[in-house]
Amino acid sequence: MPVPKAELHLHIEGTLEPELAFALAARNGVELPYADTDALREAYRFEDLQSFLNLYYELMAVLRTEQDFADLADAYLARAAAQGVRHAEIFFDPQAHMARGVGMGTVVEGLWRALGRSEETHGVSTQLIMCFLRDESAESARETLEAAKPYLDRIIGVGLDSAEVGHPPVKFREVYEEAARLGLRRVAHAGEEGPPAYITEALDVLGVERVDHGLRCMEDPALVERLVRERVPLTLCPLSNVRLRTVDTLAEHPLPAMLDAGLLCTVNSDDPAYFGGYAGDNFAAVRETLGLGEERLRELARNSFLASFLEHDEERRAR
Ligand code: ADE
Ligand code: ZN
Repeated sequence: MPVPKAELHLHIEGTLEPELAFALAARNGVELPYADTDALREAYRFEDLQSFLNLYYELMAVLRTEQDFADLADAYLARAAAQGVRHAEIFFDPQAHMARGVGMGTVVEGLWRALGRSEETHGVSTQLIMCFLRDESAESARETLEAAKPYLDRIIGVGLDSAEVGHPPVKFREVYEEAARLGLRRVAHAGEEGPPAYITEALDVLGVERVDHGLRCMEDPALVERLVRERVPLTLCPLSNVRLRTVDTLAEHPLPAMLDAGLLCTVNSDDPAYFGGYAGDNFAAVRETLGLGEERLRELARNSFLASFLEHDEERRAR
């Protein structure tokens, strides 16, 4: 039995497996510039975050209808459940869909078809976090939050993703203030490729409760001390870091040092269809390659519930 865990850093569009991409392309009459699933998988060699994002956005062309989003989420939830995920806080990128003429309602209602019955069908509770694309303008983020207002009963929080360097958190100060006024939880990617200062800014300017990745905090001992003191959860994604070359090899991943420093680390899958593994695969990889013992693995699983937006009696139930 895989250890029960919560997944806190998962882009639903990053769960689009090649087989489903081709099936949706056929259903929607979309032509993909790859001969078959093998040819597509061949394209999964990334130099950095941007080279991945180029493919990630390109493949979204196959997602057009509510049913497409429902099928995508159902496929993810089935895989996650099989790997011990009991709760998933799921990112989605509405701007990438709205730019293609697919409306906020199609995305949210489509995802909800799967999420709304996930506890019964998969035994996985879910929450939705809407991400702003940081390489788009602050104005576009504000418009996106406006478009989401009719759906806020389905959205627990906001996040910030896409190309990090050159797009500091401060750019989104106003939209995060508005999100806070609306009672939304706040998270942001910071310190994946960007500098430790972006992590500090995400905390101080955006008021985030969790930092997505946060890997580069290790370059700033005073920041590590603060994150430990304030118990700020970090949603790490080890296999993603290797595939996007933020670390050279998994064996060199700083997770053990981060745990030793007292950081509240969690292990997640980010974009599992692209990076070679779902949540359980990430747990298995760190166990095998980083030699984490049972105690550390239990700590990571416990942290995943502690760092979640679940009420914390749920944590006790899941243990
Ligand atoms: N969007 C999807 N995956 C991402 C990642 N790892 N970093 C930033 N934006 C993303
Ligand atoms: Zn991410």
